[in-house]
Parts: sequence; structure tokens; C-alpha cells
Amino acid sequence: MKTKLTMDKIVNLCKNRGFVFPGSEIYGGFANTWDFGPVGVELKNNVKKAWWKRFVQEDPTTYGVDASILMNPRVWEASGHVQNFGDPQMDCKQCKQRFRADTVVENHSKGSVSAEAMTNEQLEQYIAEHHICCPHCGGFNWTPIRKFNPMFITSRGTLEAEAEKVYLRPETCQGEYVNFLNVQRTARAKVPFAIAQIGKSFRNEITPGNFLFRTIEFEQMELQKFCKEDDSFDIYDNYKQRALKFVEDLGLKSENLRFHDHDKLAHYAKAACDIQYNFPIGWQELNGIHHRGTWDLSRHQEYSGKSMLYTDPFTNEKYIPNVIEYSIGADRLTLALLCQAYDEEELENGESRVVMHFHPFIAPYKVAVLPLQKNLSDKAKEVLQLLSKEFMCDYDEAGSIGKRYRRQDEIGTPYAVTIDFDTLEDNTVTLRDRDSMEQIRLDIDELISYIEERVKFN
Ligand code: GAP
Repeated sequence: MKTKLTMDKIVNLCKNRGFVFPGSEIYGGFANTWDFGPVGVELKNNVKKAWWKRFVQEDPTTYGVDASILMNPRVWEASGHVQNFGDPQMDCKQCKQRFRADTVVENHSKGSVSAEAMTNEQLEQYIAEHHICCPHCGGFNWTPIRKFNPMFITSRGTLEAEAEKVYLRPETCQGEYVNFLNVQRTARAKVPFAIAQIGKSFRNEITPGNFLFRTIEFEQMELQKFCKEDDSFDIYDNYKQRALKFVEDLGLKSENLRFHDHDKLAHYAKAACDIQYNFPIGWQELNGIHHRGTWDLSRHQEYSGKSMLYTDPFTNEKYIPNVIEYSIGADRLTLALLCQAYDEEELENGESRVVMHFHPFIAPYKVAVLPLQKNLSDKAKEVLQLLSKEFMCDYDEAGSIGKRYRRQDEIGTPYAVTIDFDTLEDNTVTLRDRDSMEQIRLDIDELISYIEERVKFN
């Protein structure tokens, strides 16, 4: 019988199989940081590749950038982050631990309550009414809730007295706004067009983060579509659908996904929606789609003194475009894909296996090469050399073939190629499918095209 999926199961598998390790582990760790291991880095890179392929490569109106993490501090004044960015925090007076009040409420309600729109007073009232105790010590003795700006501050300059305060970016999209004119001019882009990037963001998050769900350093995949106001709501709806289709195509099941339209909007926003995923910790935000009006470009125009007006090449009309933003965390999506892929299966022979049913495109290794016996390793390494020119491959000659299949199942390798004594005679190998566990016999010359066809993301 299958047992319930818990975050602990995912964390343990990730640690034991080389997906993700606790950050700085030999020093006792460093809260809310995680290091991707050999298979994890492949998985996350493939997730990013899939996003870039779908939203940049396959969309001729989207242009990529890779902007600096450290930006002129005025950027963060213009964006409102210096004045307004902040999370509601409270301390447990008993054990002195600090928490984000909205997260405490959401975790307590197992994701059924959305605390994003709650004021500090509403949060305090909810916590009192539901008698929510400290998740660390179990006490009920909270400080009042106050605001905490989670931007990391560092300094630039060699002399301490002259050092300028700078911020590690808390979101990547500002690098897209400040390059609006550069991209429009050099790409000769016509509205509507989008700027996309993938990169690290940093937030001094207070709450213990539920593994990769909320970390202090994470990667975002963000895209800003610049458009006319008249078209903006159609584009907003279109990105909601495209964002949903993307994660479904990558393997997230529709019953674990839902839209969550925001009730309370930021003062500049015209609409906002999350896609939520049913994580083992409950329904939580996976990504956001935001209609940001002309706020961002107008603010950068005001703070930089540089005109952000776009001139329509057909009508000569000059205007500041509206922005539709689509933003998704690469780490958070990777976590959702790990949760979705995880399965414990009872086999017909009475054994059981843990298997990660990743979409083959994102699987860390596409194929594992396994010599049936060690004395077949020369031939197996020949096959490995051939396949590794095309795919990320694993090679394993240790232990029984059954154990080796199980190891590959646990890291989600879609195909395993076994080299046996017949291979030396007729140049054929056994190819095993991870999901069905069926085996077929294939000529080595057919391997690349067979696998290539089945590991695409379209
Ligand atoms: N530019 C808009 C923006 O940054 P956000 O809702 O704060 O909006 C967008 O973040 C996405 O980034 C989230 O939906 C989530 O996937 C990811 N994300 C945000 N904070 C995160 C964190 N601390 N750890 C991991 N992922 C995070």
C-alpha cells in the first residue's frame, strides 16, 4: 500500500540520490540554503531549458537578457522595494524564534487560507482566534506583528566611510524594465514584445522554508510583456493559460494545479493571479501572473529621468506600454516536479520500487549504460562514448542488474541500455523503459534516434 507523500521523503531521496544537499552541511548547515548535487543540477538546468525553449526560443516576440544582480540602488527606490517591500514578522517571546506571520497562518490552515492580503491586524486577529502556537516551542506568547524588509544589503567601495549601500536583487524583473529601451532598439522590437531572463534572486526570508519552497537564494524565470492597454487583458489571460499548459506539459497533474486570483491588488496592479500546486505542505503558490499597468516603466522614467515612451511605428502614437509579468521560481518548480514524479510502486513479483516519473526532457540522465558483467565493460564504454555525445548518460557496473535498474528508477532515468554477450555477436542491446519496465532489443545504431525521439519537449 502506498504511503502518503511527505516533504521528508522528498528531502531524504534528494539527499541520498544526489539531487539536493543541505547548504554548508559540514558546518552544520546554513538555514534555508540548499546545494544542488550531480543529478539535481541536471534536473534544474533541464527545467530552465524547457522554460527558455517554450517562452523564448519558440516565441519570436520574446527576447532574452542576463542582467546584473547588483543594480544602481535607485532602481530599488523606483521599484518601491526600499520603502514598501516587506513581510509581516513576529517573534515568539518564549523561544525567541522569528516567524513570518502570513506563513504561520497559511501553514496552520494547510494552505486553505490565503494570508497575502491580510493586514497586520487581521493576521493578529486570526492567530488569536485560532490560538496558533509557536511552531518551534509550542508556546502562545507572540510579539506584535511588524514589517521586515527582506532585501540583503551589501556595500560597494573600498573605504568603509565612502561605501555605497547596494542590494542583492530580490527579483530579476527590474533588469528587464531597465533594459526596455536597449532591447526595443537593438532587436527592433514592436509592441507587443517581451523580455525574459533567468537568474538568481535573494530574499532574507524569515520562515524556515520547507526545503526548496522558500529559500534565501533562488532562481527566477521571469518574463515581462510590453503591450498596449487595449490588448493587455487578453495578453494577461493568454499568459495564465500558457503558464498552466507549460507546467502541465512538464508533468504536473491538472488535479494538483489551480488558479488563485488575488482579491487584494497592489495599488498599481490591474489584475494578479497565482497558479498554485498541491505540495505535500498544501496548496501553495507556484508562479504569478501580474498585470502591472504602466507602473514599472513610469517609475523608472521618473527616477532615471530617461523617457520610457514607445513610439508606434505605424501611427506615431507615443505611450508608455503596460506590462504583463509572468514569474516562476526555478527551484520551486523543480520541487513541484520532484513531488509529482515520486512514486512507490508494488511490483508483480512482490517487490517494490521507488521511481521518479519525470518527463524525459527534464530527467537528469536520459540513459544509463549497464554492462551485464564487468568483463563487458569495454563494449559498454564504447556505447557510453557514443551516447554521451548526444545525451547526459550514467554508467554503472556495480551490483546486480536489478539493483542497478532500481538506482536509475530512483533518479528517474527514462532508459537503461544493457550490454550482454549477444551484443558482442550482433551489435544489439536491451533497452529498458523506466515507466513500463518493458525491455526491447535494439541495434546500437538505432539507439540515438530512438531515444532522441522520446526525450523531446514540445
Ligand atoms: N517579480 C515578481 C515577483 O518576484 P513573487 O511572487 O515575489 O513575484 C515570483 O515571486 C515567484 O518566485 C514565486 O511564484 C515563486 O515561484 C518564486 N519565489 C519567490 N520567493 C521565493 C523564495 N524565497 N524561494 C523560492 N522561490 C521563490
